[in-house]
Amino acid sequence: MAYQVIRNAMVYFSPTGSVRAIAKSIAQGVAINPREFDLTLPNDREKKVTLEEAEFVLLAFPVYGGRLPILVRDAIVSLPKGNRPVAAVVTYGNVGYGDALLELYDLCIDLEFDVVAAAAFVGEHAYSHVLGRNRPNDADREMARVFGVGIRQALFTDGNISRERLAKHSKGAYMPHQLPSNLSFQLKPRSCDMCRICVVNCPVAAFIDGDPHKIDFSKCIGCGACIKLCPNKARRFTDDEFLDDIALMAANNADPKEPSIYLPPNLPEYFT
Ligand SMILES: Cc1cc2nc3c(=O)[nH]c(=O)nc-3n(C[C@H](O)[C@H](O)[C@H](O)COP(=O)(O)O)c2cc1C
Ligand code: SF4
Ligand code: SF4
Repeated sequence: MAYQVIRNAMVYFSPTGSVRAIAKSIAQGVAINPREFDLTLPNDREKKVTLEEAEFVLLAFPVYGGRLPILVRDAIVSLPKGNRPVAAVVTYGNVGYGDALLELYDLCIDLEFDVVAAAAFVGEHAYSHVLGRNRPNDADREMARVFGVGIRQALFTDGNISRERLAKHSKGAYMPHQLPSNLSFQLKPRSCDMCRICVVNCPVAAFIDGDPHKIDFSKCIGCGACIKLCPNKARRFTDDEFLDDIALMAANNADPKEPSIYLPPNLPEYFT
């Protein structure tokens, strides 16, 4: 069934900005100006996401430990159910996207969405300036835009994405969340000018009394935003074992990975 799409929406979570950049390039390719539901900050997650019948929805999220971030999963399951075309997109830090895209696909099916396209793009890793360095770059953004053009085509056809195509990448049951248990950061007090960019961009309001020097690590989801977004590079990871793990991961994933694109097979060859 071809969709009569009248409205469009974009739902995303993006603490360090890669998902947002990719989602915007995709939207440009689909030639839409979608209603945006940015779920990154706590106040925004409190607002209800309203989706209309047959509205096209672009869903875009980062990969955390080969899976979707837990708070993202919670937000997705409370989206309004109903048959509507969606594109499922994840970004990952050049290590791998594990089961995150499959997990997003399955959540879409539970919500009765019709997945007309899916993709995994690379963004600079939230924990490193080496892994996925400076990505998404111009080539990634162009690929995202062309993927968007493909989505537009897919909306005019009756094609969608089968679970089998995404599951080829998976080992069966979803991999367990593999999140670092030894995160610790420190501020260089003399570099910090108390601008509070880290505080206002924390997706879980983990800064005690809004003080950049006090983090409640029981709330912290380790998204890396307070490190990456600091204009003075005043915060850094301090756990040696964690830093060694990241260095090893960077050494093992030095080659830049290509985006993975899934469009319906009945589109012109150019897209598939
Ligand atoms: C807690 C955490 C776990 C991550 N796990 C993975 C992973 O399993 N594979 C990978 O390639 N990148 C991983 N990354 C990197 C992110 O997927 C990547 O930086 C993503 O582009 C972040 O999106 P954002 O910039 O929109 O926040 C992880 C990042 C964080 C913060
Ligand atoms: S963003 Fe950096 S400089 Fe600004 S308050 Fe946070 S640590 Fe300090
Ligand atoms: S305190 Fe934790 S959750 Fe908040 S921005 Fe920093 S890494 Fe992300």
